[in-house]
Amino acid sequence: MDGNGRWAQQRGLPRPAGHRAGGEAVRRVVEAAVAAPVTVLTLYAFSCDNWGRPKREVSALMRLMQRYLVSERLRCLKNGVRINVIGRRDRISRDLVEEIEDIEHATAACDRLLLRLAVDYSSRQAMLDAAKLPGEPDGLCDFERRLERATHSVPGVPSLDLLIRTGGERRLSDFLLWESAYAELVFCDTYWPDFGEQALLAALDEFRRRDRRFGQLSRRTA
Ligand code: FPP
Repeated sequence: MDGNGRWAQQRGLPRPAGHRAGGEAVRRVVEAAVAAPVTVLTLYAFSCDNWGRPKREVSALMRLMQRYLVSERLRCLKNGVRINVIGRRDRISRDLVEEIEDIEHATAACDRLLLRLAVDYSSRQAMLDAAKLPGEPDGLCDFERRLERATHSVPGVPSLDLLIRTGGERRLSDFLLWESAYAELVFCDTYWPDFGEQALLAALDEFRRRDRRFGQLSRRTA
């Protein structure tokens, strides 16, 4: 969800105003994803490296996420949106952790869209943490399960099909590195606060036009 800061700057507004507009975009995109239908949507809300931003901006982002979890609760229940927060929980405030646990519990039975919010998240860190977790005695799948535990992921999340980055950058920035192995990447120049249903549907259209081979031969040429 890149481009909040530049969106605000273009309008002569402080960066937190861009994040607030980004929060509105989250609401619109989640509704569009439910309708699409998309079954799993992971949003990169705050990376481990984002702690390096000015204190004021970090606090504004934390407040925004907390408010979002409170204000969206009923809408999630109504629309069948299950919330799962992935990432570290030991550096964010106790209040935010409580809100996260509360909404995860309240929406646990919702089954239309699994909305995963990545908060204090680093994909590399998750992989390192998974390697340090105690193993389970069943061979091959073991590491994958440890990775799920390290990212607080719920079981049964399918492999990642499509990764969208807004805001014109062409990099993954420590997001879902393992999961992106065969994901289709779509980069768009739109700043996140301007991203909405049309942009999501356009990305899904582009995804459907891709020839996914998974290292094998195209179904079109085989
Ligand atoms: C990156 O844009 C965006 C973020 C670091 C924060 C994303 C957060 C939100 C969209 C809102 C809060 C989230 C939820 C789930 C309610 P940037 O600030 O790096 O933009 P720039 O590259 O233009 O400076």
